[in-house]
Amino acid sequence: MPILYNEQTRILKLDAGDSTYAMHISDAGYLFHIYYGGHISDTDLEHLEIHGGGASFSPSPADAPHLSLDTALQEYPTAGTGDFRRPCLGVMEENGASGARLQYVSHDILQGQKPALQGLPATYLNAPGEADTLAIHMEDKHLGLRVTLYYCVFTQSSVITRWAVLENGGAQDLELRSALSACVEFCESDFDMISLRGAWCRERSVERHPLFHGATALESRRGSTGHQLNSFAILCEKGATEDYGQAYGFQLVYSGNFLLEAEVSQMNSTRVSIGVNPYDFGWQLKPGDAFTTPEAVLTYSNEGLGGISRTLHRLYRKNLCRGEWRDKPRPILINNWEATFFKFNAEKLVAIAREAAKADIDMLVMDDGWFGQRYDDHRALGDWVLNEEKMGCSLGELVERVKAEGLRFGIWFEPEMISPDSDLYRAHPDWALHIPGRSLTLGRDQSVLNLTLPEVRAYLIDSIGKVLESAEISYVKWDFNRNLTEVFSAALPAAQSREVWHRYVLGLYEIMEALVQRFPHILFESCSGGGGRFDPAMLYYMPQTWCSDNTDAADRLKIQYGTSFCFPVVTMGAHVAVCHNGREIPLRFRAAVAMAGSFGYELDLTKLPPEQIAEMKEMNADFRAWQSVIDTGDFYRLRSPFEGEETAWMFVSEDKSEALVQYFRTRVTGNSWATRLTLRGLAPEALYSFKGKQLRGDTLMRGGLVLGGRNDFAHHEIWLQRVPE
Ligand code: GLA
Repeated sequence: MPILYNEQTRILKLDAGDSTYAMHISDAGYLFHIYYGGHISDTDLEHLEIHGGGASFSPSPADAPHLSLDTALQEYPTAGTGDFRRPCLGVMEENGASGARLQYVSHDILQGQKPALQGLPATYLNAPGEADTLAIHMEDKHLGLRVTLYYCVFTQSSVITRWAVLENGGAQDLELRSALSACVEFCESDFDMISLRGAWCRERSVERHPLFHGATALESRRGSTGHQLNSFAILCEKGATEDYGQAYGFQLVYSGNFLLEAEVSQMNSTRVSIGVNPYDFGWQLKPGDAFTTPEAVLTYSNEGLGGISRTLHRLYRKNLCRGEWRDKPRPILINNWEATFFKFNAEKLVAIAREAAKADIDMLVMDDGWFGQRYDDHRALGDWVLNEEKMGCSLGELVERVKAEGLRFGIWFEPEMISPDSDLYRAHPDWALHIPGRSLTLGRDQSVLNLTLPEVRAYLIDSIGKVLESAEISYVKWDFNRNLTEVFSAALPAAQSREVWHRYVLGLYEIMEALVQRFPHILFESCSGGGGRFDPAMLYYMPQTWCSDNTDAADRLKIQYGTSFCFPVVTMGAHVAVCHNGREIPLRFRAAVAMAGSFGYELDLTKLPPEQIAEMKEMNADFRAWQSVIDTGDFYRLRSPFEGEETAWMFVSEDKSEALVQYFRTRVTGNSWATRLTLRGLAPEALYSFKGKQLRGDTLMRGGLVLGGRNDFAHHEIWLQRVPE
C-alpha cells in the first residue's frame, strides 16, 4: 500500500520506491508537512513534526495562538494570512481583498488510478499497479474556494507527482494571482542546488551552488521554457556525487512561464515552490469554474545525482512519452538545414538523399524554406503551402522522388509564428499577439500567433493537416524561434487579460494534441532555436527535441551531458555536422557524440568524398547495433566535461547483458597520463567481453578500463557483452 492513513495520528504516509513522504492533518485542519526522504517503515511519525511556533513577527491565527504559519512546514501555503514566505495560493476577492487560509475537509485514495489533468500534459499509468493517487480536499470557507491537492505515488520508482485543482464553489468572482502546483518543505537548508542554465547554443550547463538565506528562483518570463533556465533542479546533500548521497529532483511538466524556487527561511528551513510563474499571472474563477495546475514531478535518490536522472529517464520514456514512436527505434535522418540553409530546391534535396542512401540513412528532413515566399528568414511564416516555383515540383512529387532513392521524408514547420510579410498577416493582422495602437516587437522578423483565439488554432490544425495529408510524410520538426511579447488578447475582457500567458500554452497543447492524434504514424520532434523549449510537457506530444542549434561536437558534449540530468538520451536530437568554431574534429568523434542521442546528420553529403560516405555507412551499422541499449538502457555519467577535458558516460541494458561506454577527450595536455575509467551499473559477478578481452563486472567497476589518447579529440567506444557461463 503506497498510501497509508493513520486515523489516530491523522498522518498520511506515502511510500514511493525508496522514498517516504509524510504529512499531518492538525486538529484545527491545517495540513502540515512532516518528512520527505529515504524510506522509513514506521507509520507513527508524530515525533518528527516540527511545530511552527509563534516567534515574534511571525503572527498566529486567532483560533490557534501557538501556531505560526510563517514558520510551520506546510503542503500548500497561502498568501495574506500570516505566512510571509512564497505562497502556493494567492486569491483576490471581488472587493480587492486578498487572503486565503485552507482547511482540510477529507481525502480519497484512488487505487491504481491517476486522474487526467484537464487540458494539460501529464505522466500516465500503463497498468494500475504502477501507482495510487491521494486526493486531499481542502477549502477556504470564506472564499468558497475548494482546493484538491493530488499526489500520485509511484510504487516501484521514487517518484511522486503533484498538482492541484482549484474550484470556485462560492458566489463571487475570484481572481487567482498565484496557483502553484506544489511546495515541498525541508526542516533543514544545508543543501546544494543544481540547475541547468544556458543561452541559445549553450543550453543546459550544469551549475551547482549552496543554498543561502532568501530565495533562489529559476524561472521563465518568456512565455516558453527558454534556453536560459530549465524547469528542473536538484537539491542534494553537500557531498553528493554522481553515485553517492541523497538528492531530490524537481521538474514541472509545463512549457510556459514557470517558477522553481528554493527559499531558505529565518528558521533555516527550505521551501521548494514549483508551478506556473505568478509573474504577470492572473486567472478569473467565476462561480463553478475550476483551474488545474500543471503537474510537478518530485524524485528522490539515495544513490546520488545519477539516481535522479535514471529515475526521470524511465518515467519520461515509459510514463510520459506516448504513441508508437515511444518504443520504436528512431530513424537515422539527414536534415538539410546546415547543408543548404534557405538555398535549396527539389534537385538539391534529391541529390542529398541519393548520397544518404549510400550511407544507409533512413530519412531526409526538409527544413525551413520550402513554403510561401520563404527565400530567407524575413518572411512567409504562416503560409504553409509549398513554393512549387522554388522547389521545382509539388510536395507529393518531391516525397516520391526521395522515396525512390530509398528514404522516408520529414518536414519542418514553425506553426506558432506569423511574419508581418506573409499572406497570413495580410489577411489576418489581428491574429498576431499585439497591443492595439502599439507597434510589434519582432524577433527574427517574426511575431507570435495569438493561440488563445479558436480561429487561429483551427487555421493551424487545418493548414498543417492539409500538408501532412498531401504526401507521405513520416516526420515533423516543430520549431519555435522567438519568445512572447505584447501578451494581450483583445478578445478577452480586461479582467482576464493576465490569462493570455497560460491560455497560449493551453492553446498550443490543444493544437499539438489534435495533430498527434490525427497523424499517429508521424514522428514529431519539437525544437525552439535548438533546445529552448526542452521540457517534459513537449515530450508528452513529441517524443524527441532538437537539443541545440550548436552542432559542434566539443560543445555538444557539455550540452548533452547537462541535458541528461533530466531527459533520456533518446529524446535528444543530435546530428553530425561539419566542423565549427575553427576546430577540426574527426568524423567518428563527431558521430560518437551524436550517437548519444536521437542520431542523424546535418551537412551537405554531396560535398563529401566517397570514403566519408562509406565511413558513415559503417558508423550507422554500429549505431543500429547499439541503438536499443542507447535508447532504453540505464545511463551513467562517468566524467564531466564541466570539470576537465574528459567526458565519459555509459549505457547498460536493463538485464545488464550489454553496455556501451563512450569516452571523449577534447584536449591533451603535455605530459598527460592514461586514465583508469571505472564503470557503473554492470553485474559485478558477470564476465564481459570487449575488444578481444574478458573481464568481470567487479573488475571493470572497481579497477576500471585503462584509456588514453595522445591527441586532441581522442575517443573510445567500448561495447561490452556478457559472456554466458
Ligand atoms: C531554428 C532551428 C534550426 C533550423 C532553423 C530554421 O533555429 O533550431 O534547426 O530549423 O530554425 O530556420
